[in-house]
Amino acid sequence: MARASTQTHHREAFGSRNVFILSAIGSAVGLGNIWRFPYVAYEGGGGAFLIPYLCALLTAGIPLLFFDYAIGHRFRGSAPLAFRRMNRVAEPLGWWQVLICVVIATYYAVIIAWAAMYTWFSARISWGTGNEQDFFFKDFLQMGDASTGVSTQFVPQVGLPLIVVWLVVIAIMALGVKRGIGRANLVLMPLLTVMFAALVVQALFLPGAAEGLNAFFAPNWAALADPAVWASAYGHIFFSLSVAFGIMVTYASYLKRKTDLTGSGLVVAFANSGFEILAGIGVFAALGFMAQQAGTDVSHVATAGIGLAFVAFPTIVAQAAGGSIIGVLFFGALVFAGITSLISVLEVIVAALQDKLGWGRVRTTLIVSVPIALISIALFSTTTALFVLDTADAFVNSFGIMAVALVAVIVVAWILHQLPVLREHLNRRSSFRIGWIWMLLVGALAPIVLGYLFVSELIAKISTPYGDYPIWFIAIFGWGMVIALVVFAVLLALVPWSPRSHAKDDPDYDEFLGVEGYDPDPETGTVAVPDGPSRGARA
Ligand code: ALA
Repeated sequence: MARASTQTHHREAFGSRNVFILSAIGSAVGLGNIWRFPYVAYEGGGGAFLIPYLCALLTAGIPLLFFDYAIGHRFRGSAPLAFRRMNRVAEPLGWWQVLICVVIATYYAVIIAWAAMYTWFSARISWGTGNEQDFFFKDFLQMGDASTGVSTQFVPQVGLPLIVVWLVVIAIMALGVKRGIGRANLVLMPLLTVMFAALVVQALFLPGAAEGLNAFFAPNWAALADPAVWASAYGHIFFSLSVAFGIMVTYASYLKRKTDLTGSGLVVAFANSGFEILAGIGVFAALGFMAQQAGTDVSHVATAGIGLAFVAFPTIVAQAAGGSIIGVLFFGALVFAGITSLISVLEVIVAALQDKLGWGRVRTTLIVSVPIALISIALFSTTTALFVLDTADAFVNSFGIMAVALVAVIVVAWILHQLPVLREHLNRRSSFRIGWIWMLLVGALAPIVLGYLFVSELIAKISTPYGDYPIWFIAIFGWGMVIALVVFAVLLALVPWSPRSHAKDDPDYDEFLGVEGYDPDPETGTVAVPDGPSRGARA
C-alpha cells in the first residue's frame, strides 16, 4: 500500500535534456534581453561594455548558473526543498526566492499584455505619426498622477489582455513540466528565434542602420573606469540568465540523474548572450534609422526600458517601409520571450508549494496562480500601474535578487561548506569539469561583488529617494515589500511540511542518494563530501 502511494509521486521530468536546455534558454531569454540589454550596453560604454559584460558572464553568471543547477539537481527539489535538504536552516533561502518570483510574476505578465496589444496595434499602426509617446502613456495606459498613490480605476485595454495572458500561462502550468512547460518551449522558442532573426535582418536593411550600429559598438573606454558600469554589467547578468531566483534550481530538479550539467549550462549561457547581442544589433540598427529620420544623433533617440520598446519602436514602425512587419515581429517576439520566462518564474512557486503540501499539479497551479493573477490584474490594470511596476522592479531587482544571491553564496559556501559537495556533483557526469577556480569565484569573488553592489545600491536608494513618488508609496511598494519578503520567507519555512508531501517520502530522492552515495549527517542534517574519488553509480 505504501509502495503504491509513493509510486504516484514520482517527480516530474523534462522529456529530454534538449527540452531542458530549450526551456532554460526560454527562461533566460526574456524581456531583459530584448529591451534591457541594448540600453544597458549602450549606456555602459557601447563596444567597451562587452568587456565588463563578458567578465560578469564568466566570473559570476556562469559560475552561479552552475551553482543553481548543482543545488537543484543534487538535492532534487524546488528551491525550498533543495535548500532544506542541504540543511534545514537554509530553507528560508528557498522561500525568499519563491516570494521574489511572486512579485516578478505579477508585473512581468503586464508587460507581456502590453506587448500583445502592441503586436495588434502594429498591424494597423494605431498610434498614427508623431504622437507615439502620448499614445502609450495617455491613450493606452491612461496614466494617472504619481502623487495620488494607487488608483482602482480599471483600464480595459490593459486589463483584458492581461486576463488572457494569465489564462494562457495558467493553462500551460496546469499541464505540468513535460506536457506544459516543455511543449510550450518546444513551440515558442523556434518561433521566437525565427521572428527575431527576421527582425534583425529587416532592421539591418533600414537606412541609417549603420549609424545605429556605430553608436552601439563604438567603444567608450573611459566608461570602464566607472565602477557603476561594472556594477550594471554584474546586475544585468543575474536577471538575464535567470540565476539566483530559484528558476534554475527548480528546472534542474526535473533532470534525469545522468545529465551533463555544466555542458548544458554553457549552452544556455552562450545562447542567452548570443540572443542579447543580436537584440542589441537589431534594436540599434532600428534606432539608427529613427535618428536619421529625425535628423538627430542616435544618443537622442536611445531611451531606457519601457520608453525604448513602447515609444521608440512604435515611432520606427510608423516611419519605416514595412513598419507593420517590424512591429509585429518585435512585439510578437517580446510576447513569446516573455511567456517562456514567466512560466519559469511561476514554476518556482508552483513547484515549491507542490513539494511542501503534496498537492497535485492542477490543484497547486490553480491555488497558486489564480491569486497571483488577481493581484497582478488588480495592481497593474489601473491608471497607476506604471508607478507600482517601476518601484517594485527597481527594489526587487536590487534588493531582492542581489541580496538573496549574496546570502545564498555566503550560507552555502561559508556556513554550510557545501561547495565541495556541489562541485563533486557537477563533475560526476559533466563534460566540462570544474575545479577550484569555480569554488573561488562562487565562494569569494561573488560575495565581494554582490556585497559591493548591494551596499552601493543601498546607499544610493537611501540618499536619493527613488522616483517622484510619495514617501508612503515607496515605503509600501519598495522598502516594505523587500522586508516583507524576508519575514514571510522565514514564516513559510516554519510551516511544517505536510504529511502528504511526497518530499517526505520520495523514492526518486532515496534512489538518488543510494546511487550517488551521499548521506546527510543525522545530527546536523548537512551532507558531507563522500570519501574518495567519485566513481558514479555505487548501487
Ligand atoms: N531572464 C529573464 C529575462 O531576461 C527573466 O527577462
